[in-house]
Amino acid sequence: MDPGLFGQLFSPASVKVLAKITQLERERTLSDFEDTRELGFLADTEVLLTCWGAPPLDEVILDAAPNLRALVHAAGSVKEIVTDECWTRGISVSSAAWANARPVAEYTLGAILLSNKRLLELRERYAAKRSRWSRDQLPLDVGNYGRTIGIVGASHVGRRLIELLRPFGFEILLCDPYVTASEASSLGVRLADLDELCMTSDVVSLHAPALPATRHMIDGRRLGLLRDGATFINTARGSLVDTEALSDVLATGRLYAVLDTTEPEVLPDDSPLYELPNVVLTPHIAGAVGNELRLLGDAALEELTRYASGASFAHPVLRQYLDRTA
Ligand SMILES: NC(=O)c1ccc[n+]([C@@H]2O[C@H](COP(=O)([O-])OP(=O)(O)OC[C@H]3O[C@@H](n4cnc5c(N)ncnc54)[C@H](O)[C@@H]3O)[C@@H](O)[C@H]2O)c1
Repeated sequence: MDPGLFGQLFSPASVKVLAKITQLERERTLSDFEDTRELGFLADTEVLLTCWGAPPLDEVILDAAPNLRALVHAAGSVKEIVTDECWTRGISVSSAAWANARPVAEYTLGAILLSNKRLLELRERYAAKRSRWSRDQLPLDVGNYGRTIGIVGASHVGRRLIELLRPFGFEILLCDPYVTASEASSLGVRLADLDELCMTSDVVSLHAPALPATRHMIDGRRLGLLRDGATFINTARGSLVDTEALSDVLATGRLYAVLDTTEPEVLPDDSPLYELPNVVLTPHIAGAVGNELRLLGDAALEELTRYASGASFAHPVLRQYLDRTA
């Protein structure tokens, strides 16, 4: 992992637990396998604990680690690290995507509630007019009562968000080609195709993975289906959205948006999205940042504890689902 991450993932107390259940090879993390001394540390390694910044485990690295049996990833997607060769060699993989889903779902819940309350617009108006509002000045479109929320993707994040939304009495629509009607009903949501979801939701929130099939799933036509004043939220990946079409529609002021991920990331200096008053643009912070990194460290520690006791992983990554997951 990137140097410096280890101390952010694990408290001193967690490092003590780690040292009890494993034979920690080194206090310092490995980050550069081009360096043959670092490669040498892999000779006896049975489990790799990885996070952002770990390199793809190619044949050179795997050959240097003949005893490697498992990989515990203290972050979300393992796709950039776990190569086909890892699967061929039967290495078991676990990921903390489920734990990272918590801050993303919390961020999205906050975005939904504040956006429905028209926080940005009313903040601007207050600053400009220096006076309170009168009831007849506020349109009925402000507020959280009776809203319909469209969730795209029953992913770790999507499912967590559905749970968080439960107390608010919203109608929740879900678009996910892998979810059956009976599963949707046990989640307390109604399945809809993407067009219907765009047409009927007050808020559309993306939680699907970046895959060839999801590229530009939100294009100019679909944005055109959203009602005037709807909010579009993307905490998933920028590639799911046609950025130019999104910028064009947001420039008209017809929609609101909360965007934590964009394509490209970072946007060019002259992107209108930085300045538009109806857009909240954040620098990919919905997932674990700051003290939330400890969530990922704790998740990894739980998996390592299970592994050390001979139990199987609680959150395995399975190769057969990679073409539909993040
Ligand atoms: N902004 C951040 O900081 C941040 C942090 C974590 C994850 N993410 C992103 O959030 C998204 C969800 O992550 P996750 O780990 O919960 O994903 P995940 O791997 O759990 O999601 C997989 C699920 O998505 C659903 N899916 C697949 N194709 C779909 C399609 N065409 N339409 C609708 N649903 C589809 C399927 O149910 C699948 O099981 C990903 O795009 C991920 O990259 C962003």
